[in-house]
Amino acid sequence: PKRVAILISGGGSNMVQLVRSMTGDHPARAVLVASNDPAAAGLSRAAEMGIPTAAVDHRPFGRDRAAFESALLEPLLAAQPDILCLAGFMRILTPDFVARFSGRMLNIHPSLLPKYPGLNTHARALAAGDAQAGATVHLVTPELDCGPILGQASVPVEPGDTPDTLAARVLTAEHRLYPLVLRRFAAGKTGRIDL
Ligand code: GAR
Repeated sequence: PKRVAILISGGGSNMVQLVRSMTGDHPARAVLVASNDPAAAGLSRAAEMGIPTAAVDHRPFGRDRAAFESALLEPLLAAQPDILCLAGFMRILTPDFVARFSGRMLNIHPSLLPKYPGLNTHARALAAGDAQAGATVHLVTPELDCGPILGQASVPVEPGDTPDTLAARVLTAEHRLYPLVLRRFAAGKTGRIDL
């Protein structure tokens, strides 16, 4: 099976869904969960599921992204991943890092791209009066949140939504979308999924 490493920064709920999906006849297996935050709750959730973990704190590296990435690459390359999944990973990656995993690094972003790349996606969707919100899984290219789209899941914006209530609805859709996209991608299937 394809070897999948997952990068997280926080709770890792998408990571948990990805790991759980990779069993049985799935064409991939999780081999590493790594975080830039040693306190990320997702690291212990991964360990509980029996997945090797690594923490590389970005803070000692200050603004030196390349040095942080060199440190991150140590456990990452040791795990020999075929596919790298970003799942709530909140560090911008340099073009050099992205190039190493060109065509095999996926990201999930909490908006219907090309709308709202970057941060605060739910507040921006609400401010715009959008009727639909959602999430996108895309291939990572050097330009932030701009790579080829592999799948999208839409949810309705409800009256009275706040950024938090909308985020929770979108997150539930992310949990359906990301495992489906990863399974198809690991199997070498092309074409995009729309939920
Ligand atoms: C998810 O909503 C994901 O789409 C978003 O962070 C959350 C992580 O939740 N990612 C980004 O904003 C990337 N810029 P999780 O840790 O529970 O999977």
